Amino acid sequence: MADSKFSILPAHVGIIMDGNGRWAKNRGLPRSMGHIEGAKTFRKIGEYAGNLGIRHISFYAFSTENWSRPEEEINAIMDLFGDYLREAEEKLDDNLEKGIRLRFLGDRDKLRSDLVEKMEFLENETKNMSKVHVNVAVNYGGQQEILHSVKNIAEDILSGKIKPEGITLERIQKGLYTGEQPPVDLVIRPSGEQRLSNFLLWQSAYAEFWYSDVLWPDFTENDFDEALRAFEKRNRRFGGV
Ligand code: IPE
Ligand code: IPE
Ligand code: MG
Repeated sequence: MADSKFSILPAHVGIIMDGNGRWAKNRGLPRSMGHIEGAKTFRKIGEYAGNLGIRHISFYAFSTENWSRPEEEINAIMDLFGDYLREAEEKLDDNLEKGIRLRFLGDRDKLRSDLVEKMEFLENETKNMSKVHVNVAVNYGGQQEILHSVKNIAEDILSGKIKPEGITLERIQKGLYTGEQPPVDLVIRPSGEQRLSNFLLWQSAYAEFWYSDVLWPDFTENDFDEALRAFEKRNRRFGGV
């Protein structure tokens, strides 16, 4: 149920969780400490968004381009992701009670098998939930996602399931990791960067953008409110007048 403090809520919010490294650097700490703090913010904001009545929320946790980072940092991020998966499994009953459907966006081939196992388990266990849809993008790239959908279509054409005329916008969208979920209405990016960095390219075609200089580990419920307030005031035209 929508919190009365907002007259309109975005159906789908995308969050680019950025600035962990700089947060740590500012404190003379290793980058991994920034990721630990960022993971706490992720839990906090996920819970808060659900309580506000946001139906779909996508968090960008690790991009296809992030493999270019030092191995030590990648391992630290993957370990934190593993902690999150373990915790989600432990709290499964709680999540089911809240009606949370968990999904992971991205290519799993390059991910550790113990992580993939847990991801599949959680997706399967929560697949009948529909109140809150939480997506976590891991080894995710928007261009790669579109390519993945196009390859699916090519196979359907080869096997005679569809004809080239059957390649529609809806068919491409169906093959994306977000499937039937609504397009992104609002993209939130902290840390001062003003770019998409390959996040939900297709889904964000008409998204509103909200940027802030705050680093992700420092991001609070108030910052989230501020983004929603800004969204409330936007005049969305979708090409109309
Ligand atoms: C975001 O924080 C987390 C990931 C990309 C995994 P960064 O690690 O990119 O933090 P900055 O941008 O270096 O500060
Ligand atoms: C985007 O942040 C990816 C995630 C937050 C997971 P990056 O820090 O990787 O993006 P760039 O390199 O600044 O564009
Ligand atoms: Mg960054």
